[in-house]
Amino acid sequence: MGYYLVEGGHTIGGEFVVRGSKNAILPILAASILTQDEVVLDNCPDIADVKTSIEILQQLGCVVKQEGRSLMIDSSTIVQTCIPEYMVCKMRSSVLYLGALLARMHHAEIGHPGGCEIGRRPIDLHLRAFEKMGVHIKEEDHIFCCDAPVLLGYHIYLEYPSVGATENILLLSVRAEGTTVIHNAAREPEIITLVRFLRACGAEIYGEGTPTLMIEGVRRLHGAYFTIPFDRIEAGTLLCASAITGGNIYLYGPERQYMESTLEVLKQAGCLLRYDEEGIYLQSPKQLLSDFSVATGPYPAFPTDMQPLVMSLLTLAKGTCIMSETVFEARFRHVEQLCHMGANIQIHGRNAAVFGVERLLGADVVAEDLRGGAALILAALAAEGKSKVFGSRYVERGYENIEDALACLGGRVHLYKKDE
Ligand code: UD1
Repeated sequence: MGYYLVEGGHTIGGEFVVRGSKNAILPILAASILTQDEVVLDNCPDIADVKTSIEILQQLGCVVKQEGRSLMIDSSTIVQTCIPEYMVCKMRSSVLYLGALLARMHHAEIGHPGGCEIGRRPIDLHLRAFEKMGVHIKEEDHIFCCDAPVLLGYHIYLEYPSVGATENILLLSVRAEGTTVIHNAAREPEIITLVRFLRACGAEIYGEGTPTLMIEGVRRLHGAYFTIPFDRIEAGTLLCASAITGGNIYLYGPERQYMESTLEVLKQAGCLLRYDEEGIYLQSPKQLLSDFSVATGPYPAFPTDMQPLVMSLLTLAKGTCIMSETVFEARFRHVEQLCHMGANIQIHGRNAAVFGVERLLGADVVAEDLRGGAALILAALAAEGKSKVFGSRYVERGYENIEDALACLGGRVHLYKKDE
C-alpha cells in the first residue's frame, strides 16, 4: 500500500496556482461523447480519476490525445456501450456515462455502482428520471441494461438536489425530443460548468445555478474548446493546510463566490482572508478558534468534500465544534485515525463533536477515502514528529501530486508508492 511520509512542524505558505477541478472535469469527459466532433479541454488536472475516465472513453472506442494540460477527445469512433463493474467501482462518476451513452447510442450497460467508501450511494433518482424519459431498464447479474429507442422530455422533480442525478439527467435530456424541466436541481458550481460546456456544444439549457433547469432537446451537438475551471476543493485543502500549520498563503485562480461557505468557516476559525481579482490570501491566526457548528449540505451550504479537511483543522482549535454530515452517512471514517494522532472527537450519529487539543502526535494512519486521506495529511503536517499516511491511491484520485504541491509550499511530504 502506498503511503505519504510527512514530517510535521513545517509551515505551509507562499503562492500557488490551483489546478483544474476534479468534480467539474469528470462529468464533462462523460459529456464529450454526446458529439461526434472533437472536444478539446484545457486546464485538465493530472489525477487518477481523469486517467480512469480516459480508460473508459478508450474502452468505448473513443480516441483520446493528451498534450500537456489539454485533452482532445474524438468520439466519432465509439463502438462499445458497456462499462464494466470494476470501472464503476473505481470511480463513482462513471455512472454518468449511462446518461451520455443513452443520449448518443440509445443503449447502455453499466455495472452496479454498489457500495462505496463514504457510504451507500444509490442511483434510484437517476433511474426513475430516466424511466420517465423513455428509458427501459433491466437489472441482471448486477448489470443495468438500458435501452432508449425514443427519448422524450419530461418534468422531473428530484426529491433531493443530487449532483450526480442532475448531471445525468442533463446529459440525457440535451438530445431528447422536446422540453425537460428538472425541479429541485442541484445548484453546485460544477453543474453551472457542465451547462456552460454543453451550451458551448450547442445545447439549449436555461437556469443553471437555480433550482429549476430547463432543457430544450436538440438533434445534434457540435465540438467545443473548453477550459476547466479551478478546483474549489483543492483550494480549500491548501487554505486549511496553511491554516493548520500557522502559515500565510496566496492562491491564484479559485473563484471566491463559489467558496463562500468554506471561507466563512475559516474566518470563524480566526483566519484573516483577503481577496483580489486573481485569487485569495489567507493569514493564519496565532491560535485557531472553534465554538461554532458546521453542517454539510447541498450548495450553497458547506460542502461535504470539505468536512474532513476542516475537521482536521479544528482538532487544534481552541473550543468545541459540532460538525454535522447531512449528505453521506459514512463520511466520518477519518475520525478514528485523527484520534489515533491525539485528536479528541466524539461521534453521535451524523454529528461529530471536535474538542480542540493542544497538539497532535505523528502516527501511522490509514486513509479510507479521498478527502479523508487529505485530511490525515493535513493533521500530519501539524503533528509533532513523523507520520505515515497509508492509502495514497485514494488521495491520488483527486489531488495532482499533493506531495509536490505541499513540498513547494514548505512542507516535508514524500510519496512512497510501495511499503519501503
Ligand atoms: C456528492 C456531492 C458533491 C460532490 C461529490 C463528490 C452533495 C449534495 N453532493 O455528489 O457536491 O462534489 O459528492 O464528492 O453534496 N442519493 C440518493 N439517490 C440517488 C442519488 C443520490 O439517495 O439516486 C443520495 C446519496 O446517497 C447522498 C445524497 O443523495 O446521500 C447526495 O448524493 P449526490 O449529490 O448524488 O452525490 P454525488 O453526485 O456523488
